[in-house]
Amino acid sequence: MTATDAPPSPHPYHRLDISAQDFWDRDFRSRDDAFAELRAEEGLSWHRPVDAIFPHEETGYWALTRHADIKFASQRNDLFGSSFGISVDPMPAEIQRGISFFLSMDPPDHTRYRRLISMSFTPRQVRRIEDQIKNNSREIVDQLIEDLRAGKQVDFAADVSTKLPMRTISDMIGIEPEDREKVAYAAECLFSTTDADYASLEERAIHTMTQLGILTQAGKDLAVLRRAEKREDLMSNIVEAEVDGHRLTDDEIGAFMVLLGSAGNDTTKQTTSHAFRALLDSPEQIAWLLDDFDNRIDGAVDEFVRWATPVLSFARHALVDTELSGTSIAAGEKVGLFYCSANRDQTVFDRPYEFDITRSPNPHLGFGGGGAHFCLGSQLAKMQLRHLFYELLTRVPAVELGEPEYLHSNFVHGIKRMPITLA
Ligand code: HEM
Repeated sequence: MTATDAPPSPHPYHRLDISAQDFWDRDFRSRDDAFAELRAEEGLSWHRPVDAIFPHEETGYWALTRHADIKFASQRNDLFGSSFGISVDPMPAEIQRGISFFLSMDPPDHTRYRRLISMSFTPRQVRRIEDQIKNNSREIVDQLIEDLRAGKQVDFAADVSTKLPMRTISDMIGIEPEDREKVAYAAECLFSTTDADYASLEERAIHTMTQLGILTQAGKDLAVLRRAEKREDLMSNIVEAEVDGHRLTDDEIGAFMVLLGSAGNDTTKQTTSHAFRALLDSPEQIAWLLDDFDNRIDGAVDEFVRWATPVLSFARHALVDTELSGTSIAAGEKVGLFYCSANRDQTVFDRPYEFDITRSPNPHLGFGGGGAHFCLGSQLAKMQLRHLFYELLTRVPAVELGEPEYLHSNFVHGIKRMPITLA
């Protein structure tokens, strides 16, 4: 379904159509030829709305493709707000709020909720679950090695990349082991609303709402259990926490569940698949890393995230008439923040198309452009990648990867399947 009653566009559309479905069918590298052209032009470019599964009246958006412009918009939430929607795809703001909770709020609401949740993400709290992450990494790699040796068909995406983020986030929130797969699948579907593997175009709106319902309900059910009996997990803290003297409502708890389930799962999963593939293509970089793993892994993980850029884009809306890179932006107009483009900006990164774990500094925008919404789980994600890659690189025998199957999406840089066999 596309816009039917949309008013006429206030600006001409740019000749490069980065909203087209087939543009996002192309691979990351060739898409960047278009982004490189846009980065090199003066000012900002205006684009038609992406074909959407929900009816809407949007007329288009400004594309922010340069590193500096995305940082500026991310850090000036007095000029560019999140409460009118954060996805480049047209989607009703109330649905986005249901999916993304405080990610689509502005201060003071955002500040209050983020403070509440961030208590569980301090470096000290994250260190507390480090042992669990280590054990889970070891178990996942044990299983991988066993399956490879037994000659089983192994899909790296499903059998390795998906597992650690799902277990970590489930352990933190307190999701029961038997519900983990269901919750992770629902979260993955929300991130993949443009891929036909998950549902046909006609079914997508319904499918999205169904999966959203599953996640929300899982959060509400767990809240009931934890109100009755407290445990040592995030949900037990959330049901007791108060914002402005009020406990969180069931709807808020459901939305929180959706945010963590989606933000925490697919992002780390996709980084794992892309980085493992890139490393296997550069054995000399694996050797360099293993020479001094503890001192080199943090820099390497930053390159994993720059290279993968699992979140391709988010959006903001101008809260007032403003200006960016010489282009006037009217209050209410949407700006798309293309992290995928910022992370290949040649004015910031030497040899941006090369995977190079020795890169330093590495000011990538994979976790966002800084500012109030900067990824709350970045330390947790980095810790998981550190432990999982230690296990993968030190214990897995020589392997070969088959051709990856990519996700069709303008939001997630995803690998759906990637076969792996012993070399
Ligand atoms: C490699 C893995 C990850 C990547 C690339 C990533 C990327 C991002 C990005 C781009 C944003 C938006 C930033 C902005 O708007 O300025 C974000 C926000 C967020 N992320 Fe992550 N993320 C990752 C892992 C995680 C994990 C593991 C969690 C938690 C379990 C998490 C929780 C969040 C939350 C709660 C927000 C919303 C923050 C806010 O609105 O204040 N993320 N992430």
